[in-house]
Amino acid sequence: MFLSVRIFTPLFVLLAGVQAKRTDNCKLISPSESEQNALSLLEPLTNQNFTAEQHLHETYSYIFQVCGDAGGVKDAGLVQKDKAGKLVSVGSYNKTRAIKGSDWILLIYEGGESYDGHCSKEARKAMIMISCSKSAKNDFSVVLEDNKKQVDCYYLFELDTDVLCPANPSKLSGGSIFLIVVFSCLAVYLTGGFLYQRLVVGAKGVEQFPNYAFWSQIGNLSADGCDFVCRSRGNREEPPTYRGVATEPLGEEPEERDDHLLPM
Ligand SMILES: *[C@@H]1O[C@H](CO)[C@@H](O)[C@H](O)[C@H]1NC(C)=O
Ligand SMILES: *[C@@H]1O[C@H](CO)[C@@H](O)[C@H](O)[C@H]1NC(C)=O
Repeated sequence: MFLSVRIFTPLFVLLAGVQAKRTDNCKLISPSESEQNALSLLEPLTNQNFTAEQHLHETYSYIFQVCGDAGGVKDAGLVQKDKAGKLVSVGSYNKTRAIKGSDWILLIYEGGESYDGHCSKEARKAMIMISCSKSAKNDFSVVLEDNKKQVDCYYLFELDTDVLCPANPSKLSGGSIFLIVVFSCLAVYLTGGFLYQRLVVGAKGVEQFPNYAFWSQIGNLSADGCDFVCRSRGNREEPPTYRGVATEPLGEEPEERDDHLLPM
């Protein structure tokens, strides 16, 4: 009883962990299938704090999490931290929008802490443009804060990641798959044959190679064949000595050479 609890509890935790997605913590403002799909694509980016710095008249750092408490601030998906360490929520993941394109997702967190003076004291809003970059390893950066207007102010960020890059098809070409198959068969043939010769037939030394007689014969035959093809001329006909004098009729060659000189 005790043992089964010990064995099975981690298993259940594991299974539950597989099913419960972290992106489900995000609450979509107006849920739809396409926004839900966009969110679930971001699952590999969850459970980590992304940080970036912005140097204006003051230095701010920003911490971003996908559907989790950024910098440990409850409900905040993106927080701003000033030099004194004061944290301000720029957007909450319980007010999320997720807009998906071919290789990018625009993640919007609304419902951040309200502005003190400008932007009609509306709630802060963060937009995070997450896009495919094959070389980037999750580079998070601040683009701008658009707050010189009456309404609809926002902070804009970028996250470059390879998570959203379209999966490339198998990198192996037909040719390399063929070669792999051929070499695998060869390996199986050699090891199988070797074991058979050694253990069943009881062969020793070089004769342990499978079909040794056959292959050595093939080797000899191909050597003969090569000899025949490559040296056929030399073998069949003695190299003519005094060739120009003995074998060619005199007087023909000079005529041929003259042809080049005739005007066309
Ligand atoms: C994110 O940062 C907060 C505050 O520094 C920390 O408590 C939390 O564990 C971090 N989360 C992850 C997943 O690193
Ligand atoms: C959403 O987050 C805000 C803080 O940003 C919090 O006040 C509010 O209770 C949260 N709502 C839900 C439904 O969790």
